[in-house]
Order: sequence, then C-alpha cells, then structure tokens
Amino acid sequence: MTNQTLAQKRAAAVAPAAYSVHPFYPERAQGSYVWDADGKRYLDWSVGIAVMNIGHSHPKVLSAVKEQIDKFQHLCFAVGMNETYIQVAEKLNSIAPGKSPKKTFLVNSGAEAVENAVKIARVVTGRQGIVSFTHAFHGRTHMALSLTAKANPYKAGFAPRAAEIYRAQYPYMYRNPWGAKTEQETAEKALAALKDQVKYTIGESEIAAFILEPMAGEGGFIPAPEAFLRGLRDYATEIGALWIDDEVQAGIGRTGQWWAVDHYGLEPDLITSAKALSSGFPLSAVIGKAEIMDKLEPGMLGSTFGGNPTGCAAALATLKVIEEENLFERAKDIGAVIKDRLGKLQKSYSQIGDVRGMGAMIGIEFIKDANKTPHEDAVDAIVAHARDNGLILLPTGTYSNVIRLLPPINMSTEELEEGLEKLESAIKFALEPAMSLA
Ligand SMILES: Cc1ncc(COP(=O)(O)O)c(C=O)c1O
Repeated sequence: MTNQTLAQKRAAAVAPAAYSVHPFYPERAQGSYVWDADGKRYLDWSVGIAVMNIGHSHPKVLSAVKEQIDKFQHLCFAVGMNETYIQVAEKLNSIAPGKSPKKTFLVNSGAEAVENAVKIARVVTGRQGIVSFTHAFHGRTHMALSLTAKANPYKAGFAPRAAEIYRAQYPYMYRNPWGAKTEQETAEKALAALKDQVKYTIGESEIAAFILEPMAGEGGFIPAPEAFLRGLRDYATEIGALWIDDEVQAGIGRTGQWWAVDHYGLEPDLITSAKALSSGFPLSAVIGKAEIMDKLEPGMLGSTFGGNPTGCAAALATLKVIEEENLFERAKDIGAVIKDRLGKLQKSYSQIGDVRGMGAMIGIEFIKDANKTPHEDAVDAIVAHARDNGLILLPTGTYSNVIRLLPPINMSTEELEEGLEKLESAIKFALEPAMSLA
C-alpha cells in the first residue's frame, strides 16, 4: 500500500486526535534509516522521539526479544515473577546516580512512571503538593498533563486538572523573565523566585515533591543551569520534600551519560525512565532511594503489563549495547560536531537564536527579530524541506520554534555528515541569510 492509500484509510479509521508530524507510513527500519510505504528512505534524527537511541532493529535487542518470546510472553509480575524484571531493577539501581542504595518499580510508559513517582512521593512524605515547572512535559495521563506546562494541545479542555499542583519558573536562560544574562544569574533568580513562591504562597510543609527535567525536552531542549539544580536539591532536602528527576526523554545515554543529571553530579530521590530504556518495546521505571521505596506496603503499586518480559529483555540488551559500544563517548562526539557546525551557521543566520544541549540532544531555537519573537514558520519549513530531502526532524518547544536533534547515538561519521548536510540545506532554504535582526 502507498502512503496516499494509507492516508485515506487512516482518515477514515483513526481518531484525528492522534496527531502525526510527518505524513508518511514507515514500512521498515534499520540502523539510522527508515523506509516508508512508497519505498523512500529517510535518515532518522527523531528516533521515534528519543526511543531508538541505538538505532532501529539493533540485532542484539532483536535476538534478546525473540529468545524471550520463544520462552514465554506474559504471566504478569503480580502473578509469577519474571527473572528479567529483577535483572532490569538490579541494572537500573546500579547505574542510578548517587551512592544511596536504590530499588526499582517497572511500568509501561513515561506518563505511568511519572504517575507512580508522584504516588510514591505523596505516600512517603504524607504531603500533597507537587511543584512542577514552566516548559515541563511529563505526559498525557491526568496527573501527568496536570504537571505539564503547555496548554495546547496537552491540557486545554481536559480540566479539572489534578489537585495540589503548583508551577514555578524553569531557569530558561535564553528567555528568562528576570533579564538575567548568565547561567549563574538565571539560576539565582529562579531559585529565589521558587523559594519565595513555596514559602509564602504554598507553605514549605505542604510540598511532597519537586518534579523537574534537568534538560527540558518538549519545552525546547533547555538544560537547567547547574547552580539551580544544586539549589533545588538542597532546598528539597531542607524542607523535607523529594526531588523527582524526570529522565524519560534525556536518559539512557542520550546526553553522553546514563542520565542528564549525571552531568551535575547530583542524586535525586526518585528517577523516571522510559523511551530509550527498551528500544521501542514498552517499559518504564521508577528508580528510587531504597529508604523511600521500602516505605510502601506490598500491593500499593502494580500494573498488568509493567515489567513485561519482552520489555525487560529489550532493556537488558539495550543497556548492554550502550556499555559495550562505548556510546556515551560517541553521543558526546556526535553532539560536539553538530554544535560546532550549527555554531558556524548561526554566524550567517541571525534567525538562529540559540543552539544548546548536552551530548546528542541538541535544540536549535529560531527567532524572527531582535525581540526573540518565536519563528515557528521557519521550523515548519525546515522540517518539511528536510523530510522531502530524506531527513526526519522534529519540532519542539513551548513556542513551537525549536528543532530538536535526536540522532542515533551509534550513528556512523558518514551518516552524521549526511544529516548535517541535509539539515544545513533545509536551514538555508528556509531562512533569509545574513542581515542582523531588526
Ligand atoms: C520528560 C518526559 N516525561 C514523560 C513523558 C511521557 O512519556 P510517554 O509518552 O511514554 O507517556 C515524556 C514524553 O515525551 C517526556 O519527554
């Protein structure tokens, strides 16, 4: 069937609310490439929104999954316990940041991990308040959308939202509301504003947890300044609240470490992981300090498919591949090359307002003028041009004016060059060169 026939069938059968960025229908995928129903080949710099970090159809993941399927597919951890669940928990506990012993609970999706982290934080602290941040994305279930920042399309119309959610300012240096010029200043202002808000408008003893992505994903690929995260960690401890570190998008080697928070040398109380954890086979995790996880009674958490044998087999293979193939270093190298090239391009195109990121997780923010008016049209044009030219890109950002680069972290140098050429040509096509912005 062709893309066109499938589009017609989709229109008739699928709920239109299930939005798709690209109008093509993948038929097969291998390594860094995807082929659609018309046989067109694309270099994939979306990797299914940060899921196929080690490329499509990795042979080691596929063989682990096939081996598991041949043994058994499902019994449910609540009925009979698959050994692979324990192995995934052991592995995640060993790679989780910080020295405290950890324990892990497995579910299926990022949103579910977030839901469970919030449940754990509330029951353990005996408090209800959860502080989330502007530019945050934590998923689409009811609690998760309430924690998410952007109204459209995530929250509008779905009220009432979950209770006892408060929103503080994310330390987004490029668009900070305080006129701060440096990371340090942004961090200090954001931290002061956060403490003021908590102390005087919520009450410190009301806060169960702060939930934060150290590298905001859907918000626009915005790394938090180190001094802010450090201050947040200390403040949470000081007031008896927990810090939930949402690593659903940034985790599992993407930034050149297991976790984005590893770049800061800090230990969160709870970590959520999903997406790249299991290379496309549904699995997610809440990893927590053992002293926290041990406080919940048996039966308080559960899920029919959570920790399913296939997802666990895929996760064990994925984590092993990242270690064996030394992919932290590769992610860092890929990111450095991309940043260098984009930095050069930025000198000629003033509409490239900001290039930022960690490892192979890089955002390019586009602006229309010297007031930093978001340039969504540029992003749409670049994404469309790149797609026509065989490169899959994704937009992101609260203002939909950021292109996020999520290439496979085991991509070859030739594939990196191919992607950069296609990206540069799309940017050059979409933007008027030179002139300083009015
Ligand atoms: C940081 C973060 N948290 C949570 C989620 C929700 O994950 P899922 O779509 O698997 O529910 C996402 C998804 O993009 C995410 O980026």
